[in-house]
Amino acid sequence: MSIAIMSSGGDCAGMNPAIKYFVERSIFSGLKPYFIYDGLEGLIDGNIKEATFTDVSGIIHLGGTIIGSSRSKRFFDKQYRQTAFSNLTKVGIDKIIVLGGDGSFRAMDIFCGEFDLKFVGIPSTIDNDIYGTQYCLGVDTALNIIRSSIDSIRDTAASFKRAFVVETMGKECGYLALVSAITSGAELCLIPEMPYDLKHQKKQILTELQKGRRYVICVVAEGMDMTQQMVRWLEDEIGMETRATVLGHIQRGGNPTVFDRLMASQFVEKSIDRILSKEICKDVIVYKDSEFEFVDINYIASNKYQIDDDLIQMYKKDY
Ligand code: F6P
Repeated sequence: MSIAIMSSGGDCAGMNPAIKYFVERSIFSGLKPYFIYDGLEGLIDGNIKEATFTDVSGIIHLGGTIIGSSRSKRFFDKQYRQTAFSNLTKVGIDKIIVLGGDGSFRAMDIFCGEFDLKFVGIPSTIDNDIYGTQYCLGVDTALNIIRSSIDSIRDTAASFKRAFVVETMGKECGYLALVSAITSGAELCLIPEMPYDLKHQKKQILTELQKGRRYVICVVAEGMDMTQQMVRWLEDEIGMETRATVLGHIQRGGNPTVFDRLMASQFVEKSIDRILSKEICKDVIVYKDSEFEFVDINYIASNKYQIDDDLIQMYKKDY
């Protein structure tokens, strides 16, 4: 019996540990594991190969995904999905584990509805913005990279009595920025999900500076598109020399944390069990209140992710 894994959409740390557990667990269970290289694009192009233990030795500590990923426009076209299905049939695959985001899961839902295929989606994105799960693979590593970057920035900011604006990724979602601001003790945090009051913040920051504060750190989510505006505000309104650091893709790569590795193994183990046990399977595994669950893709697709209000309150309590 054959089973395949692929990564789709933005890569993240944790994908390689998931790929390693997938191959090992499949072989130990008597399954023939396959890699679909380069995501949905590779599926269309027939870039599918049987995986061995050797393929996954020495990859657990690597960021990114050794099997490659892509965002595919062609997959929206039925003709290419038909080609993709023929490629899978040639090697006898009808079960696919997908490491990706909700866009990839929606594409798989359409695909598996048209043809006799099963899939389980494993939420994998540093944005942590998939409805129904409190955790997506890769977010812990991204948060730790941001933490270490802000720690370094604080050293130089304090030495020079400067302000820094740090821009985090996350598309329209402010999760990375908010958690980083809370855990780094940033003075300011701007995310799309939270109203802000710069007049009030100005008063507070000026008071702190008078009391001896030596630096200011402002974390801005990329979705706000306000990084340069905040640099000007800190220079003009607060009167501090200010620099901006856009962390960018540094947040996406890097050595996966212990938590991301552990979650990768649990996600994969439960997903394989699920896909083997169901006749029809178009599910996504989620993690909520320390429990794993499987939900239908429509549940995820028809709701918008919202940041936990407790996190917003936690930030507000400080400021
Ligand atoms: O979804 C992951 C993510 O890194 C977002 O945070 C970011 O907005 C986007 O992907 C960047 O995409 P690309 O790698 O195509 O520039």
